[in-house]
Amino acid sequence: MSAARGKFISLEGGEGAGKSTLLAGLRECIEQRGIALVQTREPGGTSVGEAVRAIVLDPGQRGLAAETELLLMFASRAQLVREVIEPALRAGQWVLCDRYADASYAYQGGGRGQPVSRIAELERWACAGVTPDLTLLLDLPVAIGRARAAGRSDADRIEVEADAFFERVRVAYRERAATEPDRFRVIDASQSPTAVLQAATLALGALIGKSKP
Ligand SMILES: Nc1ncnc2c1ncn2[C@@H]1O[C@H](COP(=O)(O)OP(=O)(O)OP(=O)(O)O)[C@@H](O)[C@H]1O
Ligand SMILES: [Mg+2]
Repeated sequence: MSAARGKFISLEGGEGAGKSTLLAGLRECIEQRGIALVQTREPGGTSVGEAVRAIVLDPGQRGLAAETELLLMFASRAQLVREVIEPALRAGQWVLCDRYADASYAYQGGGRGQPVSRIAELERWACAGVTPDLTLLLDLPVAIGRARAAGRSDADRIEVEADAFFERVRVAYRERAATEPDRFRVIDASQSPTAVLQAATLALGALIGKSKP
């Protein structure tokens, strides 16, 4: 008998919102329940995807056109879906992904002004119907996120953008969450890491309840 299809959870939010921090806590929480888990990230998560990541985040690539950036993000995503996400879900494993297609609506759509219809078209083709069961959006004022992220090493090609860019990213994320309220849980990421994990675990609980025989 084949295993029940796994669940797909994506984490979204601006720079320094606490995605990586939450991932570590969530991973523990899921594994404690005896659920096999694959953790991955975007752009990246595969050999091809990590090569794409190096290009899109390289501050030296100043001439990268918005259209090229969008296509590269979806190139990485198409590979991740086929090589990692879909096989894992089919095998009954859960997938926890640091950013997914919503990030393109926020960054390449909201941030860079690429048309939503074009992004949706690419999503249909590249993601082949692989959509998260749950998306946790860590919502945080831009200034707080930037202050949190400031302690890190050199800024990448996207992190060097102006505050206005990240304000548009935040708005686009929130709009996306509003259009798909069943899939999204918006979490106030200005809370403590413990409170953020608690809110995320609560959202996860509903998913676990749905999946158990
Ligand atoms: N809820 C929180 N309250 C205060 N500080 C936090 C919180 N969550 C994370 N941090 C701190 O903020 C910084 C950024 O967090 P983290 O790396 O998890 O964010 P991120 O969303 O993964 O960022 P990026 O988009 O750049 O990958 C880290 O130093 C982390 O310890
Ligand atoms: Mg991170």
